[in-house]
Amino acid sequence: MAKTTIADLGDLKGKKVLVRVDFNVPLDKVSGEIKNDRRIRGAVPTIKVLLKAGASVIAMSHLGRPSGDPAKDKLLTMDKVAERLGDLLELPVKKAGNTVVGPDVTAAVAALKSGDVLMLENVRFDPREQKNDAEFASAVAALGDAYVNDAFGTCHNDKDASMVAVPAALKAAGKPRAVGLLVAKELDIINGLMGAPKPPVLAVMGGAKVSDKIAFINALLKKVDHLLIGGKMAYTFLKARGLDVGSTQVAAEELAAAQPLLQFVGTKITLPVDCLAAKSDDLNSTQVFEGDIATGFEGVDIGPKTLALYADKIKQAGTVIWNGPVGWFEKPAFSKGTKGIAEAMANSGAITVVGGGETAEAVEQFGFDTKMTHVSTGGGAFLAYVEGKKFQSLAQIDDK
Ligand code: 3PG
Ligand code: MG
Repeated sequence: MAKTTIADLGDLKGKKVLVRVDFNVPLDKVSGEIKNDRRIRGAVPTIKVLLKAGASVIAMSHLGRPSGDPAKDKLLTMDKVAERLGDLLELPVKKAGNTVVGPDVTAAVAALKSGDVLMLENVRFDPREQKNDAEFASAVAALGDAYVNDAFGTCHNDKDASMVAVPAALKAAGKPRAVGLLVAKELDIINGLMGAPKPPVLAVMGGAKVSDKIAFINALLKKVDHLLIGGKMAYTFLKARGLDVGSTQVAAEELAAAQPLLQFVGTKITLPVDCLAAKSDDLNSTQVFEGDIATGFEGVDIGPKTLALYADKIKQAGTVIWNGPVGWFEKPAFSKGTKGIAEAMANSGAITVVGGGETAEAVEQFGFDTKMTHVSTGGGAFLAYVEGKKFQSLAQIDDK
């Protein structure tokens, strides 16, 4: 069932709309510069529509995982994010104050005029945010006349007040709530993927740990015709099947997690047939192995035969879902596999959906993001939604 959207909010002229966005963007650890603003750009269409309708917008988000120590957390203030949002909107966007709620914030909100945008401070600077605290939530809720959830990347967090208790407080006060354009699009696409995807349906999985993604893999196996494995997790499967993976680290719990999936290898699941490996003590020294990897070498990417095999399967697919890089793509020498998968998807006629922070980053880095049907802004949220989890955040927004 579709959720109430911003088009259903009624007359917004002169209204103050609280918009929960996911501006949890990657930052440079030293300078605090924003490394990738995809999530900010993702919420811009919703904000523009609200402003055009005559509303003012109070944007709120978390950023990182603050420690509670102000000295350590100073890079996590929303100033740079507010500035970037302003650049994208071509409007001045001020941060409301140094706390999430309080007299400064109330005053800044009271001064808002139609067409203005204000950014609240990092909601996680208030320890009550992640306790889904009702008192904190009613203070935040009192700032707005309506609430919009456009924070797909955080929708799976059931204990974040700005996602759950805040819309609940607005609901109790009889104020309208809706999902934003980004959340509506994400839900629509993933619902379509898991409902009636265009066959044949193919998934490409990579990343490090099988154990983290077991529920996701099980959910996918029910939907897809074929699952291609790459990335670090491929070595777990290969080792579990008796191959020597050289010096590639594979934890015992990972082998255990892969065990129940081995029955699908050769039918639904395809493993790499070769890999690029690098010497553990000299990463510049690489070799392609088919079968066993020599001692002293660790797998860093899928090999050329695997890439050709996977690219061919992608070409024949009706739908391709991709989560997890298939190699250590941050290093150019080990990025051929990940780049090749992205390229094969970009060139295929299939419906192509990319999910997960790192995978989205890779696709963007190689310049193929605009050639995909959809690149999700969700990491954990994408996995959880595909798994079929019901989100408390979305339960606060009425169905249409
Ligand atoms: C994410 O990037 O996963 C979301 O922004 C949620 O952040 P969190 O993992 O710190 O809860
Ligand atoms: Mg997360």
